[in-house]
Amino acid sequence: MTVTASPASRAAEILSRPVTLNGLTVPNRIAMAPMTRMFSPGGVAGEDVRSYYARRAAAGVGLIVTEGTYVGHDSAGQSDRVPRFHGEEQLAGWAKVAEAVHAEGGTIVPQLWHIGMVRKEGQAPYPEAPAVGPSGIRTDGTEGAGKAMTRRDLDDVIGAFAEAAAAAERIGFDGVELHGAHGYLIDQFLWAGTNRRTDAYGGDPVARTRFAAEIVAAVRANVSPDFPVIFRYSQWKQDAYEARLAETPQELEAILSPLAAAGVDAFHASTRRYWIPEFEGSDLNLAGWTKKLTGRPTITVGSVGLDGDFIGAFMGEGSPVQGIDDLLDRLEREEFDMVAVGRALLQDPEWASKVLAGRFDELKPYDAAALKTLS
Ligand SMILES: Cc1cc2nc3c(=O)[nH]c(=O)nc-3n(C[C@H](O)[C@H](O)[C@H](O)COP(=O)(O)O)c2cc1C
Repeated sequence: MTVTASPASRAAEILSRPVTLNGLTVPNRIAMAPMTRMFSPGGVAGEDVRSYYARRAAAGVGLIVTEGTYVGHDSAGQSDRVPRFHGEEQLAGWAKVAEAVHAEGGTIVPQLWHIGMVRKEGQAPYPEAPAVGPSGIRTDGTEGAGKAMTRRDLDDVIGAFAEAAAAAERIGFDGVELHGAHGYLIDQFLWAGTNRRTDAYGGDPVARTRFAAEIVAAVRANVSPDFPVIFRYSQWKQDAYEARLAETPQELEAILSPLAAAGVDAFHASTRRYWIPEFEGSDLNLAGWTKKLTGRPTITVGSVGLDGDFIGAFMGEGSPVQGIDDLLDRLEREEFDMVAVGRALLQDPEWASKVLAGRFDELKPYDAAALKTLS
């Protein structure tokens, strides 16, 4: 007789398996996706930010990836309410966040961020700093809106990422995630649409990956060998949902191999809907392909736990409702190793504990009002 596990017990069994990312053991398969919240005046994560993350760790999130936090370069960001990962007060604020998450049994990595050509002129925290990028081109194609980075700029930014990673280890974080996704600086180098350089940092996919790989190598050299370095990337860009870095698995491999060789321990493949196949002829999604091509652990993400109506409202189009079974099947087949959850975890801080206990009927439906508070 075949005994079929109920969805509830299956979810508990599969999602509560620990997973290892280099020297870090994460207690289960659920990650909190990085989400910019802009609740950190002066770039300092305060008490409310601390309890926001600690609440989710206490309720079963195995790995918290913090909101994007600016590295120490004047052009890195454009809001004084986004937390910074440099400066005494800012790092002291972050140290307390890490401590609070650990006290609840969770693990936490900061997402290190430079926005590059997304920066508008005259914005905080350094209004006079220019927007910088590979070729001074925005992801929407606007030319001449910023500065093409010089050798000195490249070295400064690489150094800023390396310093932030060392600070993360020093103040008690469990690893770092490098934000190489969504059309921000690192992705502007990866993508041919924004990278028109004719030096060693532009041209074919391997050359376009050089800047990212140098950041990874500098980070790797500045932290302990077992300190996990996660690299987040995406095909899509903020201003260009249909943009793609790679049209084929071979092109994707050309980008991912140098990153893995430079020292990436795990990849976080950002998609808007995790169940969409990435390339023709296979059901694998972007995280699945990433794992297959690199052999590294991967994190998937995209509309987990959301209902169709909300996806439609947020993304401007309709979409089918996706149950948890498909996700569990893919985890079980080891297509990927972890699943990151964004908006569902904003809505319901207890999302993970409810799912791990099979209490699906207690999950709260998403309401965009959740974006406005740190509850
Ligand atoms: C309010 C908000 C802020 C976000 N900020 C970031 C960010 O700082 N860094 C990042 O890589 N992704 C960011 N994202 C994307 C999420 O990490 C995630 O990939 C996306 O929301 C899809 O996951 P979900 O469908 O579970 O929400 C953000 C998403 C939202 C909704």
